[in-house]
Amino acid sequence: MSGRPRVFVARRIPDAGLDPIAEACDLDVWEDELPPPREALLARVAGCDGILTLLTDRVDDELLDAAGPSLKVVSNYAVGYDNVDVAACARRGIAVGNTPGALTETTADLAWALILAASRRVVEADRYVHEGSWRTWGPMLLMGSDVYGATLGVVGLGRIGQAVARRASGFGMTVLYSSRNQVASEIETELGATYVSLPELLERSDIVSLHVSLAPDTRGLIDADALARMKPTAVLVNTSRGPVVDPGALAAALRDGVIASAGLDVTDPEPIAADDPLLGLENCIVLPHIASATLATRGRMAAMAAANLLAGVRGEPLPTPVKGPGA
Ligand code: GLV
Ligand code: GLV
Repeated sequence: MSGRPRVFVARRIPDAGLDPIAEACDLDVWEDELPPPREALLARVAGCDGILTLLTDRVDDELLDAAGPSLKVVSNYAVGYDNVDVAACARRGIAVGNTPGALTETTADLAWALILAASRRVVEADRYVHEGSWRTWGPMLLMGSDVYGATLGVVGLGRIGQAVARRASGFGMTVLYSSRNQVASEIETELGATYVSLPELLERSDIVSLHVSLAPDTRGLIDADALARMKPTAVLVNTSRGPVVDPGALAAALRDGVIASAGLDVTDPEPIAADDPLLGLENCIVLPHIASATLATRGRMAAMAAANLLAGVRGEPLPTPVKGPGA
């Protein structure tokens, strides 16, 4: 017995996080590229003082029971924490941390990559060239829709939503937003963003970008009714959580021309099944949940997750604790 805190880290994360943990703790890292299967996860957390989880690891009463009474902290390597039963942790006095702020701009950049790619059919066009279909400059070849001057609807104006809206000024866009709460008027003025209801946003926007957290009131938020309100020329971008969109309704809307195209960084389920109807559609871009995947940002996230873990095992307040269930 070394007397050092015992911690389990559920995947290899950047050294900016692993090094400080290894210095202070008895560290057990899940080395596989795939997440620990449930049984392995339950076995490895037993007797730990702290665990560092990813959005692929479900933290619930069963896992907390498996960890046992020594567990003081769950540090989630993500800004979203819908994988963590925060109320169950609170009942046991277990602190929960996440990595807000670190990935805001990086995620907004990827949302914009999808906005531009889906509007201008960039992925489809690249595929067309790669498969040898390009024969001539075509007057009507691969026509998309303009981003410059279009109306952007931001659903959820938290940190990431605001960062996406801020970028719209360079594109001369009209910015609408809907949100649980209207933001301060200084923020609205800075972003040039107008608060509207979700139905109005869906009806008026050329591009709809989703930036809500996953909670009971946002699960299935974009369903068949919501899609039917959108323009037939509209683009839907989702970099939030897959279940915010009803995948069957989206596939039908894209197939039937209810909306023009979609860019998804998140799906339901993840990974998406190889035979999912969305993957059979030319007008749907699907990325493997990479919005925060830059070297710098993943390093920052690792350092933040480590700082939360180390504070938690020492019984100190976490630098970035989560605000509460669904916050
Ligand atoms: C990624 O999706 C995150 O929540 O950090
Ligand atoms: C994440 O940083 C958010 O609250 O939008």
